[in-house]
Amino acid sequence: MFNIKLSGQFFFSFEALLNFKILTIMNVVLNFMTKVRRSLKGRGIVSSVILIPKRYIQRYKFRSFDLWGLVETQEMDGAEEVKKHATKYEASNLIFFKKMFQNLDWPFQNSTYIDFGCGKGASLVYAADMGFKKVIGVEFATKLARIASENMNKYAKLKDKKVSFEVFNIDASQFEIPLDADCFYFFNPFDAVILDLVLRNIVKSLDIRQRKILIVYLHAVHVDVIRKYNFNQIRYISPKELDIYYFGGGYVFTNN
Ligand SMILES: C[S@@+](CC[C@H](N)C(=O)[O-])C[C@H]1O[C@@H](n2cnc3c(N)ncnc32)[C@H](O)[C@@H]1O
Repeated sequence: MFNIKLSGQFFFSFEALLNFKILTIMNVVLNFMTKVRRSLKGRGIVSSVILIPKRYIQRYKFRSFDLWGLVETQEMDGAEEVKKHATKYEASNLIFFKKMFQNLDWPFQNSTYIDFGCGKGASLVYAADMGFKKVIGVEFATKLARIASENMNKYAKLKDKKVSFEVFNIDASQFEIPLDADCFYFFNPFDAVILDLVLRNIVKSLDIRQRKILIVYLHAVHVDVIRKYNFNQIRYISPKELDIYYFGGGYVFTNN
C-alpha cells in the first residue's frame, strides 16, 4: 500500500482513494444501466432512445440549481405527525411537467401557481420559466423550503428579472389558499388524508371566490380522492407515456 504522510498525523491511502473512486463510478454506471433497462422494458427502444438523452439535457440546463437527489422522509426536519403522511423528496422532471401543461388553453401570464410539497422548488422554477404571473411553494420540511427559496432567488438573478414568488414553510393541509391562486400542482407529495384536506381548502376558497382553476396531479396514486370532488377531468397521461414509475400517471382537472 502506498501512503503519504500529511501534516504528521493523517495518512492518505491512494489505494483506498482509488477503490472509493472506482466504487463511485461503478455506482453511477450501474444506476444508469438500471434506468436504461427499465426504460427499454417500459417504453420500448425508440421512445427510450429519444427520452434518455432528453432527461440528461434537461438536468444540464438546470445544473447550477440545487434540485436533484432524493431526500427520504426520515432525513427531513419537520413535525413527525406530518412526516407520517409525506412522501420522499424527488424533483419533478421538466419533460413530464411540460407534457402535463402543453396545449392547455390557460392564461399562464395571469395565473398564480401553487406547488403543494414544493421540496427544493424544481416545479417553481419550471412554472416561473413557463410564464406564470406568480409561483408559490408550500413545503413542511424547513431545509427543503429554504433551498426552494434560494433556487428561486438564483433563477430571478440568472434571468435578471423580477420574479414574483413565495415559499411557505408549513404543512400543506394548514395552508390557507390565496383567493387569486388558480393552478394547483401535486407531484405525489402526500397520502390521501392530507390530499383530501388540501382539496377541501381549495373548494372552500372557491366558495369564497368563484374562479376557474386547474388541478394538475402527477404520479397520481390517490386520484380517487380528487374524483370525489366532481371536478372535470380534462387530461390523462399514462405512466407509459411519462415515467413508468409514476404509478397512476398524470391528470389535469378543472371546474368548468
Ligand atoms: C415527490 S416530492 C415533490 C417535489 C416538488 N413538488 C417537485 O415537483 O419537484 C414531495 C414533497 O412534498 C413534501 N411534503 C410532504 N408532505 C407535505 C405536507 N403535508 N406539507 C407540505 N409539504 C409536504 C415533501 O417534503 C417533499 O418535498
